[in-house]
Amino acid sequence: MADNKSVIDILNDLRARELAVIVQYMNHHYVITGADAAALAGEFKEVAITEMKHAESLAERIDFLGGEPTTKPADIKIGAKTLSGAAADDLASEDEAVRLYTSAVEQARVAGDITTRKLLEDILADEEDHVNTFRTMLGK
Ligand SMILES: [Fe+2]
Ligand SMILES: [Fe+2]
Repeated sequence: MADNKSVIDILNDLRARELAVIVQYMNHHYVITGADAAALAGEFKEVAITEMKHAESLAERIDFLGGEPTTKPADIKIGAKTLSGAAADDLASEDEAVRLYTSAVEQARVAGDITTRKLLEDILADEEDHVNTFRTMLGK
C-alpha cells in the first residue's frame, strides 16, 4: 500500500473520537435524571458499546497497517445532566462522526485501501443509526 501513513493517521484520529464518545455516552448513561431518564438511559449505554466495537475495529486495522493505536481520547463533552441536554451534545458528536467518516471513506478510496474503506463504510452506517437514535430522543 502506497499511503499507509496517512491512512493510519486518519484511523487514529477517528479512534481518538471513538474513545471520547465512549466516555461521554457512558457518563450520560450514569448522570442523566428526569422523567424520561429511566426509560432512555440504557440507550446511551447501548450506543457506547457500539462505539467500543468501533474503537477496537479501528485499532485492529491500525495494527495491521503497522501503526500504533492511540490511547488518547479526543475532547469529551460532559456536564449535561438532563436527557435533552445530553442527547443534544451527543447528536452533535454523531453529526460530526458522520461528516468525518464520510470524508475518511473518500480518503481511503483515494489511497486505494479497499479494506479500510469497507470498514469505514460499515462504521458510517452505525453512526447514521446513532444520529437517528439521538434525534428520536430529542423528538426531531
Ligand atoms: Fe463510532
Ligand atoms: Fe456513534
